[in-house]
Amino acid sequence: MTNDNVLLAIDKLNVHYRQFQALYDVSVKIKKGSIVSIIGSNGAGKSTLLNTILGINRPTSGSVTFMDQRIDGLPTNRIAAKGLSMSPEGSRVFPNLTVKENLLMGAYIPQARKNKEAMLEKAYDLFPVLKEKSKQEANYLSGGQRQMLAIARAIMAGPKILFCDEISLGLAPVVIKDIYKKIQEINDEGITIVLIEQDVKRSLKYSDYSYVILKGNIVMEGKSSELPVEEVTDAYFGENKYAIY
Ligand SMILES: Nc1ncnc2c1ncn2[C@@H]1O[C@H](COP(=O)(O)OP(=O)(O)OP(=O)(O)O)[C@@H](O)[C@H]1O
Ligand SMILES: [Mg+2]
Repeated sequence: MTNDNVLLAIDKLNVHYRQFQALYDVSVKIKKGSIVSIIGSNGAGKSTLLNTILGINRPTSGSVTFMDQRIDGLPTNRIAAKGLSMSPEGSRVFPNLTVKENLLMGAYIPQARKNKEAMLEKAYDLFPVLKEKSKQEANYLSGGQRQMLAIARAIMAGPKILFCDEISLGLAPVVIKDIYKKIQEINDEGITIVLIEQDVKRSLKYSDYSYVILKGNIVMEGKSSELPVEEVTDAYFGENKYAIY
């Protein structure tokens, strides 16, 4: 991989919550235009990694480089303004705002604010149901619709890279399929995607490259099409394959 192709490089990242170490020397490279998945079970450190990239957590050591510039240590709004956007875990939206108001909240960075009407149309094109429900409070959306809103809101910022934290959680298989199709459409428009997933098969199916994270360590990585599901599953569970966490 030449450096030109690397959009985001995470190098030897260590993250602590007080005394507890959540990430150990985590190194990840995200190629421009690709879909990369980070696979891991509950508590593996997936959200910690995303939150550290986005400046919500501070690393103890290591670096995050986006388009050849260090971004670790920058405030979250500066990082967002560079083109990093996230659909947060639990499809968090503003429940008492309408669908449209939620979407407009996504266009808060200066360059997106100028284009917000065009971005809104784009979001509605991608998820027509959000146009139908534009005047309804987000509270009343179904789980799948709320997830679509969370993704669409993240897109409203006009990102170069979109982080999706467990977008399939609690949704019916048919809805998950639909949402992943949209993710591919978003990627086709040139937006690099990072998927956080617990489902091994789904992660491998929808990504170009995968990393497996276990207790804060990257324990496996490779091209998704070349990683055997069995081996990834073993790596995902570590030695205590049948232990209950
Ligand atoms: N704010 C915090 N303070 C202390 N410990 C935390 C905090 N946030 C996360 N942790 C711990 O860090 C570890 C990694 O948590 P993280 O939320 O990154 O996991 P995850 O892979 O996203 O899990 P899940 O799939 O359940 O969302 C866990 O052991 C968790 O208990
Ligand atoms: Mg998480």
